[in-house]
Amino acid sequence: MGFDQLRNSWETFAQVDPLWAILTETDKTGNRWDIAAFFRTGRSDVDRFVAQAQAALGDSWDPARGRALDFGCGVGRLTQGLGAHFAEVVGVDIAPTMISRAGEYNTEPDRIRFLVNDADDLSQFDDASFDFVLAWIVLQHMDPQIGHNYVREFLRVLRPGGGLLFQLPYERRVYVEELPDTALKGRVRIGARLRKVAAGTAFDLPVRVTNTSKAIWPADFVETPIRVGNHWLDLAGEVVQFDDGRAALLAPLPPGQSATLQLSCSAPLEPGRYELVVDLVREGVGWFVDRGNRVDSCTVRVTPAGRSRERVAASPPRDAAGQGDRLGEAVMEMHTTPIAVIEELVTAAGGEICHRETWSNPSFLDVEYIVRKL
Ligand SMILES: C[S@@+](CC[C@H](N)C(=O)[O-])C[C@H]1O[C@@H](n2cnc3c(N)ncnc32)[C@H](O)[C@@H]1O
Repeated sequence: MGFDQLRNSWETFAQVDPLWAILTETDKTGNRWDIAAFFRTGRSDVDRFVAQAQAALGDSWDPARGRALDFGCGVGRLTQGLGAHFAEVVGVDIAPTMISRAGEYNTEPDRIRFLVNDADDLSQFDDASFDFVLAWIVLQHMDPQIGHNYVREFLRVLRPGGGLLFQLPYERRVYVEELPDTALKGRVRIGARLRKVAAGTAFDLPVRVTNTSKAIWPADFVETPIRVGNHWLDLAGEVVQFDDGRAALLAPLPPGQSATLQLSCSAPLEPGRYELVVDLVREGVGWFVDRGNRVDSCTVRVTPAGRSRERVAASPPRDAAGQGDRLGEAVMEMHTTPIAVIEELVTAAGGEICHRETWSNPSFLDVEYIVRKL
C-alpha cells in the first residue's frame, strides 16, 4: 500500500470507528468502546512503557523534565498517558480526523499537543528535540520501507541519551485456526457491471463480502483462509472453468462487517456467453455455497480476443451507507520486519538496542524494542 492509500485508509477508520480501529477488540466494533475504559488502557500501557524505559536507559534519563513524541497517536490514548510522566508531549498522526478527535479528548492542552504528520518523514521536527519517542501498534500497519524510514527519523529527532520504544512484529504465525463450521456464513455481491470482455483477458472484479456469521473471519495469513473465488459456467449451466481467481482478506472481518476485495479473474478463451459465478471459499475446507450460502453471478459476453470495448465498469455501491462497507474500503495492512533488519537499521541510525522483549499473539510473533540514542 502506498502512502496515499495508507492515509486514506486511516482517515476512513478515523471517521467510521476510530477507537475500534486503534484497539480492534471484536466486541467493540460499531463505536462500542467505553471512552473511559479506552483511555484507562492507555494510562496503564504508558506506565509500563516508562518503567521499562527507565530500567533500560538508567537514571540519567529523566522523563519528568522531558519532551515526548507519540508517533501514530490516534485519538491520544497513549499521548494522554505520556502526559502523566513528561513535561511536554506531542502526538502526531497521519489521519486528520484522529487528530481532531484527539484534540476533543485532550485534558491538558497547555502541555499536550496534537499535530497531523502527513509525510513519510518527521521533517516538521528539529534534530535532537525529544527525550522519548513512542510508536506502539503503528509501524506494523505500513509498508516496511516507509516504517523503516520513520525509525531513522525517530533517532534523528531524539537527543543523545534519549529513548525510543517501539513494537513491530517480526514473523507471521501460520496456524490452523479453530474456526467453527458456523463461521462459514457470508454474503458476496459483485460490485461492478461486467457485460463484455475479450477472450482470455485478465481483469479485477470488485466483490463486496459480508461476514454474516457470529465469528470473526481471520485475515489471509492463516493456513485455511476465507477468500473469494469464481467459476465460469456456460449458459446450459455446465462448468467450463472451475476455480479461476482468488481474493484475500487483508484484515480480519468481524461479524456483520463488509469489505470490498478485488478478485483477479481471467475470461474463458472461447468467445460466447457465460455466467460468471462468485462465491466465498474456505481454502482446503470448501465453498460456502455447499453450506447453504448464496453465490452472486452475472452474464458476460466473451468476445473474440482484442475486440472487447466494454471492460469492468464500476457500478455505485448498493449499500454505501453501511458502516461495514465504508470500513470495507479501508485496509488495515499488517507487516513484519525481521529482528536482524531492525538491529542493523537502529545501529546505522545512531542508536543502541538496550532492551528487547518478544511475545506471540494468535497471528504474529511480536517484539518490543527500547533503543538509546547514542
Ligand atoms: C492501531 S492505531 C494505534 C494508535 C495509538 N498508537 C494507540 O496505541 O492508541 C495506529 C495509528 O497509526 C496512525 N498511522 C498510520 N500510519 C501512520 C503514519 N505513516 N504516520 C502517522 N500515523 C500513522 C493511524 O492513523 C492510527 O491512528
